[in-house]
Amino acid sequence: MTLYDRAKKVIPGGVNSPVRAFGSVHMDPIFFNRAKGCKIYSTEGKEYIDYIGSWGPMILGHSRQDLIKKAQGYLEEVITLGLPSDVEVEMAETFTKATKTDMVRMVNSGTEATMSAIRLARGYTGENKIIKFEGCYHGHSDGLLVKSGSGTLTYHAPTSLGVPQATIEDTLVCRYNDLEDVEAKFQEFKDQIACIIIEPIAGNMGVVIPDKEFLQGLRKLCDQNQAILIFDEVITGFRTRYGSVGEFFDVKADLYTYGKIIGGGLPVGAFAGSREIMEKLSPLGGVYQAGTLSGNPLAMKMGLDTLHELESHPEIYDKLDQFALELDQGFCKNLKEVGIPGKVTRFHGMMSLFFGEFDEIKSFDDVQAADTDLYEKYFHGMVEEGFILAPAQFEAIFLSDAHTEDVIQKTLEANRRVLEKISKS
Ligand SMILES: Cc1ncc(COP(=O)(O)O)c(C=O)c1O
Repeated sequence: MTLYDRAKKVIPGGVNSPVRAFGSVHMDPIFFNRAKGCKIYSTEGKEYIDYIGSWGPMILGHSRQDLIKKAQGYLEEVITLGLPSDVEVEMAETFTKATKTDMVRMVNSGTEATMSAIRLARGYTGENKIIKFEGCYHGHSDGLLVKSGSGTLTYHAPTSLGVPQATIEDTLVCRYNDLEDVEAKFQEFKDQIACIIIEPIAGNMGVVIPDKEFLQGLRKLCDQNQAILIFDEVITGFRTRYGSVGEFFDVKADLYTYGKIIGGGLPVGAFAGSREIMEKLSPLGGVYQAGTLSGNPLAMKMGLDTLHELESHPEIYDKLDQFALELDQGFCKNLKEVGIPGKVTRFHGMMSLFFGEFDEIKSFDDVQAADTDLYEKYFHGMVEEGFILAPAQFEAIFLSDAHTEDVIQKTLEANRRVLEKISKS
């Protein structure tokens, strides 16, 4: 019996998170058991170049020996206490400095971070309605599973069974990059909107870049209407620069949610903001939020190691930018020369390769034009060549510090071969 057969017997769909099922590329999932640098190894011993990086956290690459050695030492000291620890304070100091916030609360996942930030925004404003954007994914809490991206987009299930209608009645959905749509919602629901939550660069419908005026317009609308602006930086945080991506657009949010990278590979999330808002949280204020493993010393120490590396080596971001640019240019050249329609979206080191004919890629509607059949063929071809990409069109490509110029060139050569094969089929 294969591992997948065994998995299917005891885990729904054989996986602990839907995108891992490889469903949208119609392939059985590959199981892995080892990772090193930018390479991951299947249980059958095949080596792959990894462009998922655990969906973001592994920005420094897998199993860096110096970090592993440190983590081994941490295990000897303490794993979890459920009591205050010194390293939580150190993390909060490092984190708030990096994100230019006053206070932070650590949680265990991005889902928890967004869910808690929204409760806080509602508690602070006293209003119930929230605005989210089509194609943005903010985790799987009930009120946010409306027209979301990532796995829900891939599986064409914008909402989920089990989410009561009443729960999503307060969730208003707008078009990404469409300020007028948001203005209209503020007019229609005057004085009822608690917050806007947005991925400041969308990653969960593939990478979609916001217009600067759009993000600045959201800031203005929130100010005019006493609503809270939440940047969900679970993907973007510390990915293209050390801290918030909002700085590229000169926009500050009121609350930020983070995850992925900040745990150094362990399950961590965080939400942060101004003292005035954050002090509404329990035990100081009336907005309840808690977590047995929140801020556990092991995750805090591993997260801090990653943050310290990123802070002390800003050249990592230059390298990711450069590699993404090379992939962008190389993909576009190959697509053009082979005659396959496609487009690359890229913001610094964050990028997607979309297949299909596009005028522009600015919204969820635009990404609908993607040719998922072509992506499927491309994915299969790249797997054969020894590359693991997201097993779905509507995701980002994740680079790491462990990728090398040689790997980038090999990727472009494989990309060329696969595109040529597709064009002849
Ligand atoms: C932007 C964004 N927010 C929230 C989440 C949810 O995070 P988690 O999967 O850690 O619950 C994700 C997950 O991919 C995400 O991309």
